[in-house]
Amino acid sequence: MKLFLDTANLEEIREINRWGVLGGVTTNPSLVAKEAEDPDRVWKEILAEVDGPISLETTEPEAGPMYDQGVRLSQMAPNAVVKVPMSPDGLTAGKRLVADGIRINVTLVFSPAQAILAAEVGAYIVSPFLGRLDDVAADGMDVLRKICDIYEVQGYETNVLAASLRHPMHIVESALAGADIATMPYDVFAKLVKHPLTDIGLEKFQADWTTLQDELKGEA
Ligand code: E4P
Repeated sequence: MKLFLDTANLEEIREINRWGVLGGVTTNPSLVAKEAEDPDRVWKEILAEVDGPISLETTEPEAGPMYDQGVRLSQMAPNAVVKVPMSPDGLTAGKRLVADGIRINVTLVFSPAQAILAAEVGAYIVSPFLGRLDDVAADGMDVLRKICDIYEVQGYETNVLAASLRHPMHIVESALAGADIATMPYDVFAKLVKHPLTDIGLEKFQADWTTLQDELKGEA
């Protein structure tokens, strides 16, 4: 399972990219708005920074302008993936983009039925939002499992991207469910690497090593 960052913040992207595990980035209009900068500049910097698929989201509500915007976004760099919403206009625009050979990510997916539609238009990625389902007392992980099962049974090639993830167990459970990609905010990514026993172990190894160095110095 590939690990993506869900952010438009370049510093966060650079930090995780340094670890050598960053497979790509997802952005959305809210995340880009948080940066309070020219969106084109923000997207271009991210596209240049990461060697992997970068999702850039359309904001036009109607199919025609959404398609035109999608074409423009796809031309920013070869690793650009165009996000379209799960809606009749999103599907219409998405289908045209796919026909042009442009990779699309169908976003705001909350049910297995919607995920079937995304696969049928030939999406490169489908993005079920787990955390937002959990927020309304639904079972986001159950929806993800069903989507993965349906895609397996039907032989759909669309990549399942588990989105709106809120904590490390969301990532572990998404991997077990068979998701192709998990996207998460920086703070969740940072939690993946942490374990108190790792910190305690590291501290002890370093202390013992320093003791040895001091003893050797004493003998010299
Ligand atoms: C995915 O592509 C979305 O940007 C994202 O995961 C939304 O997550 P949120 O519910 O934390 O806003």
